[in-house]
Amino acid sequence: MTSNRLGLIGGSGLYRMPALSDGEWIAVDTAWGAPSDSLLLGTIAGREVAFLPRHGRGHRIAPHEVNYRANIAALKAAGCTEILAVSAVGGFHADVPPGSFVLVDQYVDRTTRGGRSFFGDGIVAHAAFGHPTCTRLGAVVAAALAEEGGLHRIGGTMLVIEGPQFSTRAESLLHRSWGCDVVGMTGLPEARLAREAELCYASVAMVTDDDAWSDIHVDVASVIAIMEANVARAQALVEAVAAGTWGGIHCPQGCDHALDGAVITAPLAW
Ligand code: ADE
Repeated sequence: MTSNRLGLIGGSGLYRMPALSDGEWIAVDTAWGAPSDSLLLGTIAGREVAFLPRHGRGHRIAPHEVNYRANIAALKAAGCTEILAVSAVGGFHADVPPGSFVLVDQYVDRTTRGGRSFFGDGIVAHAAFGHPTCTRLGAVVAAALAEEGGLHRIGGTMLVIEGPQFSTRAESLLHRSWGCDVVGMTGLPEARLAREAELCYASVAMVTDDDAWSDIHVDVASVIAIMEANVARAQALVEAVAAGTWGGIHCPQGCDHALDGAVITAPLAW
Protein backbone atom coordinates (compact mmCIF):
# COMPACT_ATOMS: atom_id res chain seq x y z
CA MET A 1 0.00 0.00 0.00
CA THR A 2 1.29 3.47 -0.89
CA SER A 3 2.22 5.39 2.22
CA ASN A 4 2.07 9.01 1.07
CA ARG A 5 -1.14 9.36 -0.90
CA LEU A 6 -2.92 12.69 -1.01
CA GLY A 7 -6.53 12.26 0.06
CA LEU A 8 -9.03 14.53 -1.66
CA ILE A 9 -12.48 15.07 -0.21
CA GLY A 10 -14.78 16.77 -2.69
CA GLY A 11 -17.77 18.68 -1.39
CA SER A 12 -20.93 19.86 -3.10
CA GLY A 13 -20.26 20.28 -6.81
CA LEU A 14 -16.88 18.55 -6.76
CA TYR A 15 -17.75 15.00 -7.70
CA ARG A 16 -15.16 14.37 -10.42
CA MET A 17 -11.42 14.78 -10.85
CA PRO A 18 -10.69 15.11 -14.60
CA ALA A 19 -6.93 15.46 -14.00
CA LEU A 20 -6.81 12.05 -12.33
CA SER A 21 -5.25 9.36 -14.52
CA ASP A 22 -5.39 5.56 -14.23
CA GLY A 23 -8.37 6.00 -11.96
CA GLU A 24 -10.13 3.05 -10.43
CA TRP A 25 -13.11 3.20 -8.07
CA ILE A 26 -12.41 0.82 -5.17
CA ALA A 27 -15.16 -0.11 -2.71
CA VAL A 28 -13.90 -0.09 0.87
CA ASP A 29 -15.40 -0.89 4.23
CA THR A 30 -14.12 0.21 7.62
CA ALA A 31 -14.61 -0.63 11.27
CA TRP A 32 -16.92 2.42 11.35
CA GLY A 33 -19.01 1.31 8.39
CA ALA A 34 -19.06 2.33 4.74
CA PRO A 35 -17.67 5.68 3.56
CA SER A 36 -19.76 8.05 1.41
CA ASP A 37 -18.69 6.28 -1.77
CA SER A 38 -15.95 4.08 -3.22
CA LEU A 39 -12.50 5.69 -3.31
CA LEU A 40 -11.19 6.78 -6.69
CA LEU A 41 -7.52 5.78 -6.61
CA GLY A 42 -5.17 7.16 -9.25
CA THR A 43 -2.52 9.75 -10.00
CA ILE A 44 -2.66 13.53 -10.40
CA ALA A 45 0.49 15.34 -11.54
CA GLY A 46 2.63 12.35 -10.49
CA ARG A 47 1.20 12.15 -6.98
CA GLU A 48 -0.86 9.17 -5.95
CA VAL A 49 -4.24 10.31 -4.73
CA ALA A 50 -7.47 8.93 -3.31
CA PHE A 51 -10.59 10.94 -4.14
CA LEU A 52 -13.78 10.65 -2.10
CA PRO A 53 -16.95 12.62 -2.88
CA ARG A 54 -18.20 13.58 0.59
CA HIS A 55 -21.87 13.39 -0.35
CA GLY A 56 -21.43 10.41 -2.68
CA ARG A 57 -21.73 10.54 -6.45
CA GLY A 58 -25.15 11.97 -7.24
CA HIS A 59 -25.21 13.86 -3.92
CA ARG A 60 -27.09 11.21 -1.93
CA ILE A 61 -25.87 11.93 1.59
CA ALA A 62 -26.82 15.04 3.60
CA PRO A 63 -24.18 16.76 5.80
CA HIS A 64 -25.65 15.32 9.02
CA GLU A 65 -25.80 11.83 7.46
CA VAL A 66 -22.18 11.64 6.28
CA ASN A 67 -20.26 8.87 8.05
CA TYR A 68 -17.23 11.09 8.74
CA ARG A 69 -15.43 8.38 10.71
CA ALA A 70 -15.72 5.90 7.87
CA ASN A 71 -14.54 8.53 5.36
CA ILE A 72 -11.40 9.39 7.31
CA ALA A 73 -10.71 5.75 8.22
CA ALA A 74 -11.05 4.73 4.54
CA LEU A 75 -8.56 7.40 3.41
CA LYS A 76 -6.16 6.39 6.19
CA ALA A 77 -6.44 2.73 5.18
CA ALA A 78 -5.76 3.71 1.54
CA GLY A 79 -2.36 5.05 2.60
CA CYS A 80 -3.18 8.76 2.72
CA THR A 81 -0.94 10.94 4.88
CA GLU A 82 -2.54 14.23 3.89
CA ILE A 83 -6.11 15.31 3.10
CA LEU A 84 -7.21 18.33 1.12
CA ALA A 85 -10.90 18.91 1.74
CA VAL A 86 -13.03 21.20 -0.40
CA SER A 87 -16.45 22.41 0.70
CA ALA A 88 -19.09 24.95 -0.28
CA VAL A 89 -19.73 27.66 2.32
CA GLY A 90 -21.52 30.92 2.90
CA GLY A 91 -19.48 34.07 3.55
CA PHE A 92 -19.83 36.60 6.37
CA HIS A 93 -17.79 39.52 5.02
CA ALA A 94 -17.20 41.66 1.96
CA ASP A 95 -13.67 40.29 1.59
CA VAL A 96 -14.99 36.75 1.09
CA PRO A 97 -17.69 37.33 -1.56
CA PRO A 98 -19.36 34.53 -3.53
CA GLY A 99 -16.82 33.05 -5.92
CA SER A 100 -13.87 33.47 -3.54
CA PHE A 101 -11.86 30.63 -1.99
CA VAL A 102 -10.77 30.64 1.66
CA LEU A 103 -7.95 28.55 3.13
CA VAL A 104 -9.58 27.75 6.47
CA ASP A 105 -7.37 27.53 9.55
CA GLN A 106 -9.84 27.68 12.46
CA TYR A 107 -13.29 26.32 13.31
CA VAL A 108 -16.19 27.09 15.61
CA ASP A 109 -18.39 24.09 16.24
CA ARG A 110 -22.19 24.48 16.27
CA THR A 111 -22.92 20.90 15.25
CA THR A 112 -24.86 18.43 17.36
CA ARG A 113 -24.01 15.29 15.40
CA GLY A 114 -22.37 12.20 16.82
CA GLY A 115 -19.45 10.28 15.37
CA ARG A 116 -17.04 13.07 16.26
CA SER A 117 -14.26 10.86 17.64
CA PHE A 118 -12.64 7.51 16.97
CA PHE A 119 -12.34 7.16 20.74
CA GLY A 120 -14.79 6.39 23.52
CA ASP A 121 -16.30 3.07 24.52
CA GLY A 122 -13.44 2.33 26.88
CA ILE A 123 -10.61 4.08 25.04
CA VAL A 124 -9.98 7.66 26.13
CA ALA A 125 -7.85 10.15 24.21
CA HIS A 126 -7.64 13.93 24.05
CA ALA A 127 -5.86 15.10 20.89
CA ALA A 128 -4.65 18.72 20.75
CA PHE A 129 -6.78 20.77 18.34
CA GLY A 130 -5.68 24.35 18.98
CA HIS A 131 -4.24 24.48 15.45
CA PRO A 132 -6.74 22.28 13.63
CA THR A 133 -5.21 22.38 10.15
CA CYS A 134 -1.78 21.47 8.83
CA THR A 135 0.57 24.41 8.28
CA ARG A 136 2.78 22.53 5.82
CA LEU A 137 -0.06 21.34 3.60
CA GLY A 138 -1.67 24.77 4.03
CA ALA A 139 1.48 26.42 2.64
CA VAL A 140 1.26 24.22 -0.48
CA VAL A 141 -2.41 25.17 -0.87
CA ALA A 142 -1.63 28.87 -0.33
CA ALA A 143 1.04 28.75 -3.05
CA ALA A 144 -1.40 27.02 -5.41
CA LEU A 145 -4.07 29.65 -4.70
CA ALA A 146 -1.59 32.46 -5.36
CA GLU A 147 -0.41 30.85 -8.59
CA GLU A 148 -3.97 30.29 -9.76
CA GLY A 149 -4.62 33.98 -9.17
CA GLY A 150 -8.38 33.94 -8.46
CA LEU A 151 -9.98 35.77 -5.58
CA HIS A 152 -8.92 34.07 -2.36
CA ARG A 153 -8.03 34.61 1.26
CA ILE A 154 -5.37 32.78 3.26
CA GLY A 155 -6.66 32.01 6.74
CA GLY A 156 -10.19 32.16 8.03
CA THR A 157 -12.55 30.72 10.62
CA MET A 158 -15.27 28.34 9.49
CA LEU A 159 -18.35 28.12 11.65
CA VAL A 160 -19.92 24.69 11.19
CA ILE A 161 -23.68 24.33 11.59
CA GLU A 162 -25.57 21.07 11.85
CA GLY A 163 -27.74 21.66 8.77
CA PRO A 164 -29.24 20.52 6.56
CA GLN A 165 -31.23 23.77 6.74
CA PHE A 166 -29.33 27.01 6.29
CA SER A 167 -29.04 29.35 9.30
CA THR A 168 -31.71 31.78 10.44
CA ARG A 169 -30.91 35.45 9.94
CA ALA A 170 -30.49 35.84 13.72
CA GLU A 171 -28.00 32.94 13.84
CA SER A 172 -26.15 34.29 10.84
CA LEU A 173 -25.81 37.76 12.40
CA LEU A 174 -24.63 36.14 15.64
CA HIS A 175 -22.03 33.94 13.92
CA ARG A 176 -20.81 36.96 11.94
CA SER A 177 -20.50 39.01 15.13
CA TRP A 178 -18.30 36.26 16.59
CA GLY A 179 -15.63 37.04 14.00
CA CYS A 180 -16.21 33.94 11.90
CA ASP A 181 -15.49 34.27 8.18
CA VAL A 182 -17.46 31.49 6.52
CA VAL A 183 -20.21 29.03 7.43
CA GLY A 184 -20.45 25.44 6.28
CA MET A 185 -22.02 22.13 7.29
CA THR A 186 -19.21 19.61 6.89
CA GLY A 187 -15.84 20.94 8.15
CA LEU A 188 -16.45 19.27 11.51
CA PRO A 189 -16.14 16.60 12.69
CA GLU A 190 -14.03 15.92 9.58
CA ALA A 191 -11.04 18.00 10.72
CA ARG A 192 -11.23 16.57 14.27
CA LEU A 193 -11.18 13.01 12.94
CA ALA A 194 -8.28 13.71 10.57
CA ARG A 195 -6.30 14.93 13.58
CA GLU A 196 -7.17 11.79 15.58
CA ALA A 197 -6.14 9.70 12.57
CA GLU A 198 -2.79 11.57 12.57
CA LEU A 199 -3.38 12.93 9.07
CA CYS A 200 -2.34 16.36 7.82
CA TYR A 201 -5.56 18.19 6.88
CA ALA A 202 -6.22 21.39 4.97
CA SER A 203 -9.56 22.83 3.97
CA VAL A 204 -10.47 25.09 1.07
CA ALA A 205 -13.88 26.70 1.39
CA MET A 206 -15.58 27.79 -1.83
CA VAL A 207 -17.85 30.73 -0.99
CA THR A 208 -21.16 30.29 -2.79
CA ASP A 209 -23.38 32.88 -1.06
CA ASP A 210 -23.58 35.55 1.63
CA ASP A 211 -25.58 33.43 4.08
CA ALA A 212 -28.73 34.69 5.78
CA TRP A 213 -27.29 37.89 7.31
CA SER A 214 -27.39 39.60 3.92
CA ASP A 215 -30.49 40.85 2.16
CA ILE A 216 -29.98 38.35 -0.66
CA HIS A 217 -31.17 35.15 0.92
CA VAL A 218 -29.19 32.00 0.32
CA ASP A 219 -30.92 29.26 -1.65
CA VAL A 220 -29.81 26.06 -3.33
CA ALA A 221 -30.17 27.46 -6.86
CA SER A 222 -27.71 30.29 -6.24
CA VAL A 223 -25.32 27.96 -4.39
CA ILE A 224 -25.31 25.53 -7.34
CA ALA A 225 -24.85 28.32 -9.90
CA ILE A 226 -21.76 29.68 -8.13
CA MET A 227 -20.41 26.18 -7.55
CA GLU A 228 -20.73 25.26 -11.20
CA ALA A 229 -18.98 28.49 -12.18
CA ASN A 230 -16.08 27.60 -9.88
CA VAL A 231 -15.70 23.85 -10.17
CA ALA A 232 -13.00 24.06 -12.85
CA ARG A 233 -11.07 26.42 -10.59
CA ALA A 234 -11.34 23.96 -7.70
CA GLN A 235 -10.16 21.12 -9.94
CA ALA A 236 -7.18 23.21 -11.11
CA LEU A 237 -6.35 24.00 -7.50
CA VAL A 238 -6.38 20.33 -6.55
CA GLU A 239 -4.07 19.59 -9.48
CA ALA A 240 -1.63 22.32 -8.40
CA VAL A 241 -1.64 21.03 -4.81
CA ALA A 242 -0.96 17.47 -6.01
CA ALA A 243 1.97 18.82 -8.03
CA GLY A 244 3.20 20.92 -5.09
CA THR A 245 6.16 20.05 -2.93
CA TRP A 246 5.51 17.37 -0.42
CA GLY A 247 7.77 17.81 2.58
CA GLY A 248 8.26 14.20 3.63
CA ILE A 249 6.54 11.73 5.87
CA HIS A 250 7.16 13.64 9.10
CA CYS A 251 4.99 16.70 9.49
CA PRO A 252 6.92 19.53 11.19
CA GLN A 253 3.73 20.50 13.03
CA GLY A 254 3.33 16.96 14.34
CA CYS A 255 0.04 16.05 12.65
CA ASP A 256 1.50 12.60 11.98
CA HIS A 257 2.04 11.93 15.68
CA ALA A 258 -0.92 13.83 17.11
CA LEU A 259 -1.78 10.96 19.43
CA ASP A 260 1.59 10.89 21.17
CA GLY A 261 0.68 11.33 24.82
CA ALA A 262 -3.00 11.85 23.93
CA VAL A 263 -4.24 8.32 24.55
CA ILE A 264 -4.88 7.73 28.21
CA THR A 265 -6.10 4.17 27.78
CA ALA A 266 -4.68 1.89 25.05
CA PRO A 267 -3.41 3.00 21.62
CA LEU A 268 -5.84 2.64 18.72
CA ALA A 269 -5.02 -0.25 16.36
CA TRP A 270 -5.70 0.80 12.75
N1 ADE B 1 -22.95 25.82 2.10
C1 ADE B 1 -23.05 26.73 1.13
N2 ADE B 1 -23.61 27.88 1.59
C2 ADE B 1 -23.86 27.68 2.91
C3 ADE B 1 -24.41 28.48 3.94
N3 ADE B 1 -24.81 29.71 3.71
N4 ADE B 1 -24.51 27.92 5.17
C4 ADE B 1 -24.09 26.66 5.39
N5 ADE B 1 -23.57 25.86 4.46
C5 ADE B 1 -23.44 26.36 3.22
